[in-house]
Amino acid sequence: MPLSSAEAFAPATVANLGVGFDILGLAVDGAGDTIRAELTATPGVVIREIVGDHGKLPRDPLKNTAGIAAAAVLKAVNASSGMALTIHKGLPLASGLGSSAASAVAGAVVANALLGEPLTRDQLLEHALEGEAAVTGYHADNIAPCLYGGITLSYGVTSGEIVRLPVPEGLHLALITPHIEVLTAKARAVLPANVPLKTMVAQTAGVARLIHAIYQGDVAQMAAAMETDTVVEPARSHLIPHIAEARRLAKEAGALALVISGAGPTLCAVCDHADAALLTAQAVTALYEDAGIGADRRVGTVLASGAYVI
Ligand code: HSE
Repeated sequence: MPLSSAEAFAPATVANLGVGFDILGLAVDGAGDTIRAELTATPGVVIREIVGDHGKLPRDPLKNTAGIAAAAVLKAVNASSGMALTIHKGLPLASGLGSSAASAVAGAVVANALLGEPLTRDQLLEHALEGEAAVTGYHADNIAPCLYGGITLSYGVTSGEIVRLPVPEGLHLALITPHIEVLTAKARAVLPANVPLKTMVAQTAGVARLIHAIYQGDVAQMAAAMETDTVVEPARSHLIPHIAEARRLAKEAGALALVISGAGPTLCAVCDHADAALLTAQAVTALYEDAGIGADRRVGTVLASGAYVI
């Protein structure tokens, strides 16, 4: 039965996990976007308010990831009513924390909740992807962990092509977001169109090693495998100042690896205990503060469940 209002939360996500470009991702416990939807008699979606985006996101529902996803759900069920969305951005834009995916997923989940849950989570995937595609293109490495939770392998964009991987025990993350903006489109434009066969073999080996380590529950091996990317990070590192120094300081503070989260600029350090994550977050943040850039830091574990109705 349709409700008069509903609210949903969708978490931050780390895409790629280093070497797993466009296919691996995880959901982070803590920050995320929250969307409230109210039923309206007029069909379609309107965006009533966006809080926390400093006026940067489109208010036009046809151009907004959450609006597009919610409208796709309405259309899928032939709803005669509409909805008004209030979006609370808990995630910074263009930060590498899956901000657009979180809004798209929250938009799809809240729309479904408002309509009385006519669609399954697998069906929501397609509609959340429609929202995400408007901003970053059709890949599910943020959408899948955001919707399903945990660590996901997306070898395609349909629910049958998404695998939930086990979450190694003791995995802790430090996420440091330097105060610079890296637009996903730009971070994708700098990538090579082709790679030599030898590089392809090394990258494939890195992904295989990473997935094996995840199934073994071996955080140290997982971290080492994540850092074997020789294609994407080398092409993007110039977009993120001081990345080499950040990695050095992270390891000094006890982290096992440091990679770019998604398209950046957030850096994701992998640790095997909470203290190391905290110390790493502090050390890398201090680096960016000393450099006059500034940074935000978050520490957390993997969120086992994905987006949820509040
Ligand atoms: N896999 C994507 C990338 C994530 O690194 O470009 C950002 O959408």
